[in-house]
Amino acid sequence: MILSGKAMVAGVMGWPVGHSRSPRLHGYWLESYGIDGTYVPLPVPAGKVEQALRALPVLGLRGCNLTVPHKEAAAKAVDRLDPAARRIGAVNTVVVHPDGSLEGRNTDAFGFIENLREGAPRWDATAGPAVVLGAGGAARAVVAALLDAGVPEVRLANRTRARAEELAADFGGPVTVMPWEWRGRALADAGLLVNTTTQGMAGQPPLEIDLATLPPSATVTDIVYTPLVTPLLAAAKRRGNPLVDGIGMLLHQARPAFHAWFGLMPQVTPELRRFVLEGL
Ligand code: ATR
Repeated sequence: MILSGKAMVAGVMGWPVGHSRSPRLHGYWLESYGIDGTYVPLPVPAGKVEQALRALPVLGLRGCNLTVPHKEAAAKAVDRLDPAARRIGAVNTVVVHPDGSLEGRNTDAFGFIENLREGAPRWDATAGPAVVLGAGGAARAVVAALLDAGVPEVRLANRTRARAEELAADFGGPVTVMPWEWRGRALADAGLLVNTTTQGMAGQPPLEIDLATLPPSATVTDIVYTPLVTPLLAAAKRRGNPLVDGIGMLLHQARPAFHAWFGLMPQVTPELRRFVLEGL
């Protein structure tokens, strides 16, 4: 793509940022919609994110995404937060307004629920409890999305119980904390199982969980997408449970950000999915 002098510029701040799929993802959309714009990796070390964010309006950038380790620090650095970012306590998208002020948003909850609805159209939020494993930043976005979708109960289990207790206290509502050792037992009448831990990621041991009591109709999803079929998803597949892999959350969380910066709500297509997976 050849840019004009009026090209719109956005990017992703992270450290390291070299592994990020976002330039490939946004680049695909910019190219396929013929937009005069670009999306670049921005290697910003820990501790420098406020300085880097304040440079965005000075340089005329539209905004940026934030990835590890900047999501929480960005929430403190911006001028205001949208309701999702405030609730989740982390910012994955910054929008520069015409007056130069910075708005922090969080589109991870949107990405999670859109991916789930697309991948498991028969999943009914109200049909049963959702079991969520993990209590990090990703879990906070997942719990926010599930409560908004109307699940009757979220059962939360985390290796470090105190983190799960904190998450439950922050969110209020029907979130109950289960001991990590009971994670298998929490599945008995569940309608959904979500892994938000790093277990099952390439280089990590598989998530250990006994799926014996999980109803065959329950949907199983993993936010890990390297590998695309995690040991958890493979085990659920053998039992015949409906599955949703994690790459779609990455693709869908990018849509509202692209819309905010470049003015068009892009679509997730099978070609885009293939294109982003090829880069993994
Ligand atoms: P993210 O923001 O992507 O969610 P995170 O905050 O580092 O990342 O959270 C990682 C999650 O994986 C946590 O829930 C973590 O559990 P702890 O809170 O006990 O650290 C979980 N996790 C990491 N390694 C784990 C392991 N070996 N067994 C079980 N859970 C693990």
